[in-house]
Amino acid sequence: MEKIVSLCKRRGFIYPGSEIYGGLANSWDYGPLGTELKNNIKNLWWKRFVQSRDDIVGIDAALIMNPKVWEASGHLKNFTDPLIECEKCHARFRAGDTLLMPHIATHGGSDEKSIENATIALGLWQKNPEEAMNKYPDQFQKWLADCPKCASKKSVSIGFVKKFNLMLKTFLGPAEEKTNIVYFRPETAQAMFVNFKNVLQTTRKTLPFGIAQVGKAFRNEITPGNFIFRTREFEQMEIEYFIREDDWEKYFEYWRKEMIEWIKELGVDIKKIHEAEIPDGERAHYSKRTIDFEYEFPFGQKELYGLAYRTDFDLKNHFKEAPYKEEEGDAFWPHVIEPTWGVDRSILVALLEAYHEEKDRVVLKLPPKLAPYKAAVFPLLANKPELIKKAREVYEMLKSCNLQSAICNLSVAWDDRGNIGKRYYSQDEIGTPFCITVDFESLANDDVTVRDRDTAKQIRVKISELTDWLIDKIS
Ligand code: GAP
Repeated sequence: MEKIVSLCKRRGFIYPGSEIYGGLANSWDYGPLGTELKNNIKNLWWKRFVQSRDDIVGIDAALIMNPKVWEASGHLKNFTDPLIECEKCHARFRAGDTLLMPHIATHGGSDEKSIENATIALGLWQKNPEEAMNKYPDQFQKWLADCPKCASKKSVSIGFVKKFNLMLKTFLGPAEEKTNIVYFRPETAQAMFVNFKNVLQTTRKTLPFGIAQVGKAFRNEITPGNFIFRTREFEQMEIEYFIREDDWEKYFEYWRKEMIEWIKELGVDIKKIHEAEIPDGERAHYSKRTIDFEYEFPFGQKELYGLAYRTDFDLKNHFKEAPYKEEEGDAFWPHVIEPTWGVDRSILVALLEAYHEEKDRVVLKLPPKLAPYKAAVFPLLANKPELIKKAREVYEMLKSCNLQSAICNLSVAWDDRGNIGKRYYSQDEIGTPFCITVDFESLANDDVTVRDRDTAKQIRVKISELTDWLIDKIS
């Protein structure tokens, strides 16, 4: 992880947020290359799940919504994490990370039964602490931990767990009064539900169909961390797929496969993905079934994406009258399958999978579609005007290529500093799949040397065929 964080900062993928003022805990700013990578992921997703399909349309809604949305969705009441506090230093932690996981490690190892018991106990605790303590006295008795911050012995106990609402609050308008409290959305999903009838009326879609959105979400996480893995401001790509109740299992299965296909697009070794069925008591308040797609991060196996069957919970809470009716039959509340993808976690896994150290070079073997630059163009020598002129022509030709209909944009870098070897290494480190060199032969033959990032092999390609050659390789 340290190597990835350092590379990201050094090469302009991701910087610590507000750095010149000492930073702001766990906030990160995407630099020029990180922004390209992020946009490539979001565009690829949008192309795959919205533009290439007839049954999904997209929206882009406001980040701050009427607080009644969060009342109806249950987030004001239920969107909580169990929080524990050290008796000595009053530092606060997520109960799951601080008590549950160490507890499992110390008492009962990692066998499935004890994990299940501990998980159920904590889940039940969230809903009804008294019942949980009576039902699992032994579990709770043992749940004492040393404070991860001040290291006081056994100063953190399950008895001190509080429910902490993760919604990020602010005030709308000049007066900081209770009536002006609003919340930044903690998921993009609700905008898709509250706009359900608008979309229906304006697109005339019939079941099954989906609404998609990509955008920011905010959560006042108790313990953000692990670089961009858990932050308080992040981006999601979500689909609410509306179906008939009887079809939920069929579409749950369908989206499960689609999510795996997407993970492959990021260049992720699918062996590092584990599907975790979330048990009763642990699922979000709206879900009847949830699968987390977990990835083997360097800091442990953790959630990458999620898939939930949200039933008709949200539409029923937002629409008092059934919002969907076809020509024949009664109106009803459609059910929902929700595949959800975190943008920042997508970036993190793409970087982790791509990072390679080979002899004396670092190579980011990003899938070409994701690479910030698809190619870099160099004149062999920086002091030969005729080489620079020709290389500049190749660079402009590639840059001006209009790839609206292709799978990604053809972003191209220019470099004429140092020697060719250094330029190759510099491009390898940021994942540029192809380096194009204009040399003396190019002046005579109208061709260039193209070097492949992963194999370091070089071939010659005619300049007139270069754009098509690149598009073919990238897509
Ligand atoms: N609408 C459902 C929903 O929001 P979630 O599992 O809470 O479900 C969906 O979040 C995805 O958003 C996660 O699988 C993860 O990729 C990403 N995510 C959630 N919290 C995050 C955080 N604090 N920082 C970065 N990404 C986060």
